[in-house]
Amino acid sequence: MTSKYNYLAKPRIYYQNLDTLDRLREYVSQKLEHPLKATAKNTVFSNNGTSDIMIIGEAPGADEDEQGQPFVGRSGQLLMKIFESIGLTREKLYITNLVPWRPPLNRNPTFEEMDFFLPIMKKHIRCKDPKVIVLLGGIITKALISKDIVISKVRGTFIDLEIEGKTYKVLPSFHPSYLLRSPMMKKLAWEDMCTLKKEII
Ligand code: URA
Repeated sequence: MTSKYNYLAKPRIYYQNLDTLDRLREYVSQKLEHPLKATAKNTVFSNNGTSDIMIIGEAPGADEDEQGQPFVGRSGQLLMKIFESIGLTREKLYITNLVPWRPPLNRNPTFEEMDFFLPIMKKHIRCKDPKVIVLLGGIITKALISKDIVISKVRGTFIDLEIEGKTYKVLPSFHPSYLLRSPMMKKLAWEDMCTLKKEII
């Protein structure tokens, strides 16, 4: 089946002067065009954290769309509890999503949408230049690492990710929405946080 988004050109971000977070934020919120923008209330670019621990989720939900901030709803509250267990409050994290606009009815982003936003996420990582990156869930892990990857097999293990000649340490873990549905898995998410803590101390 042909996607209705196939006509979209990939954003030509490598031809633009997007070398700072402020410029990238302005580009995404004011210049970037995508059908999801029309149905969203707000652009969700990132929290205001200055941390070099970058957390990447999938896409905003209803609460995030309302407030223009990532991970402020139910799954965000669980996420914060998980990070707080290793002493990391919201201010000590830089939090963002692959997709900056809420997909209607909170559906998962499609492969076409992931492909569209991937170059922007790579630019986002280069501009932020974090010490470590935590990927939340299978969707963002597939998008950034490999479509064949299974989150339950790679979670809790650092993977090298090269972007524009620089190698980043990336730690995939479970998405908090999944943990809300499968609370037994919280123990593994906590183990992943212990792995993160060892890396950042
Ligand atoms: N789920 C995500 O992936 N990101 C958010 O910001 C909220 C829920």
